Amino acid sequence: MCGIVGAVAERNVVPILMEGLRCLEYRGYDSAGLAILADGNISRIRRTGKVVQLQKTLEKNPTSGTTGISHTRWATHGAPNEANAHPHMSGSNIAIVHNGIIENYEELREDLKKNGYEFTSDTDTEVVAHRVEFHRKNSDDIVEAVKKTVAELEGAYALVVMSADDPEKLVLARQGCPVIIGLGIDENFVASDVAALLPVTRNFQFLNEGDIAFIERNNVTIWDESGKVVERDIKESELSPDAVERGNFRHFMQKEMYEQPEAIARTLSERIVDGKVLDSAFGSNASEILDKVKAVHIIACGTSYHAGLVARYWIEQMCRIPCTVDIASEYRYRSPVVLDGTLFVTISQSGETADTLAALHMAKKLGYIATLTICNAPESSMMRESELAMMTNAGPEIGVASTKAFTTQLTVLALLTITIARRMGLKEKQEQALVAQLADLPGLIQQVLAMDSSIKSLANHFVDKHHALFLGRGAQKAIAMEGALKIKEVSYIHAEAYAAGELKHGPLAMVDEDMPVVTVAPDDELFKKLKSNLQEVQARGGELYVFADPRVELKENQGIHIIRMPALIEEFQAPILYTIPLQLLAYHVAVLKGTDVDQPRNLAKSVTVE
Ligand code: M6R
Repeated sequence: MCGIVGAVAERNVVPILMEGLRCLEYRGYDSAGLAILADGNISRIRRTGKVVQLQKTLEKNPTSGTTGISHTRWATHGAPNEANAHPHMSGSNIAIVHNGIIENYEELREDLKKNGYEFTSDTDTEVVAHRVEFHRKNSDDIVEAVKKTVAELEGAYALVVMSADDPEKLVLARQGCPVIIGLGIDENFVASDVAALLPVTRNFQFLNEGDIAFIERNNVTIWDESGKVVERDIKESELSPDAVERGNFRHFMQKEMYEQPEAIARTLSERIVDGKVLDSAFGSNASEILDKVKAVHIIACGTSYHAGLVARYWIEQMCRIPCTVDIASEYRYRSPVVLDGTLFVTISQSGETADTLAALHMAKKLGYIATLTICNAPESSMMRESELAMMTNAGPEIGVASTKAFTTQLTVLALLTITIARRMGLKEKQEQALVAQLADLPGLIQQVLAMDSSIKSLANHFVDKHHALFLGRGAQKAIAMEGALKIKEVSYIHAEAYAAGELKHGPLAMVDEDMPVVTVAPDDELFKKLKSNLQEVQARGGELYVFADPRVELKENQGIHIIRMPALIEEFQAPILYTIPLQLLAYHVAVLKGTDVDQPRNLAKSVTVE
């Protein structure tokens, strides 16, 4: 979603802001803008569309200054047009950028109108700009004005405020949306995530909920929510700027699919000793908590939810304890019943997804034995707010469509399953065998990636289709769901996923020669059942695309295309391995259709608003 970059420096900050915005493009946005303070005046440029449009405008009308803020906007309140793009200003002295949603903006706006303020946009953010201006009149400085303003706000925000009357200073506030400070030498920065500032610094301070701060060239001051001045730890990022570059790949999605072998190897690394999964990999007090687990409740959104659905099969089968999986936006508005001894698990690539974070906050009051987060962002809110945590270590995922984040989430969930199963009677030898399955994954994924060109040629069969059906049974049902989501996201083809056994309860009616049906067929106890379902499709003239284990009995003939996968042991390997061809298929269909693969329309990488 929206991205923020700001800087106070001795040099011209415009190139820093523009580079930062480019690094944040992956988050998804529909307009971009910046405001620069120079010689006591704020100049502002905003454009709809991509950062490159803003860049072109700057080339024609160059601007420079040593203090500035910039933003990429993903529309929530008001259309994605120039008037609604950030920064928003009040008069000529106050400029602000904002991520999040101000829930009480309508009443604040009415009050401002009574005080003579006029509005030029439909956004909630412009209200905040005017409130700051309003309070600045009766405040000693801009920090005091921002403090008075945020005291009035309800909702979620990361705010950065610049004032012409308070030069060489940016004021920040965090509530519900992340904002970080980057520390330079004689210059300081602010951004909504680390990726934006890697070209200029590796040292970061992460604000907590309720913090207010200001940055100057040589000074950072932070207040916590109680108003006390606090120091926040300085953390050095291990990410190299290369980690957020596309390299020789055509798209980030492609690069990230190809990174899966090494990403999974990293996920496993240092978490297994002598064939045994370390409890401590989930946190220093994990052993004690895991001893008490009698049930697991998993909450997530989108792709991360699909990872949870796979884990449900693993946990119930191998641990013989109940496991429920919920979509965060549903969970948070119902009254869940928490069984004694239930571990609450959130899965999230970003660790900032608004619904999942809200579910975590709610869960803390509901009597779970502990909260565990499985996440790819080390300093995210979920990581910091959960008692137990395990990083997926996939490295930055820039493509909006989740790929390596998903397969590494599954890898962590497999480790979690093993640690619980051990307590439920899994023998040492069995654990070693399961760990060996995981250790083989990077090599097996390489084999599947080597099938890329044959999958690419299949994409031609999909490019003119408007619909597709994905089928799976058991844990593979969740993989079918993930395959359908991938194709929807990046190629905009309507795709639905069904448990294959549900076919004749409705969806079979849709099957005809224009409806490609995709399925995954590992060599498991459900294969015979799946085969009958596939025959039902064939009998109705449906075109089948089956990613199948080499050992299963299926014959390629008219209406059925069989793509043979490596032979796999079931359990942990199949769901992870069978995801890869579905990712590749979605990717190649999107490339053929010419969509914006890495930043699909209307989508954002990290959904930080409800
Ligand atoms: O960061 P999270 O894993 O919490 O994000 C959840 C979903 O928004 C995300 O998985 C989304 O569905 C992806 N774009 C799917 O590719």
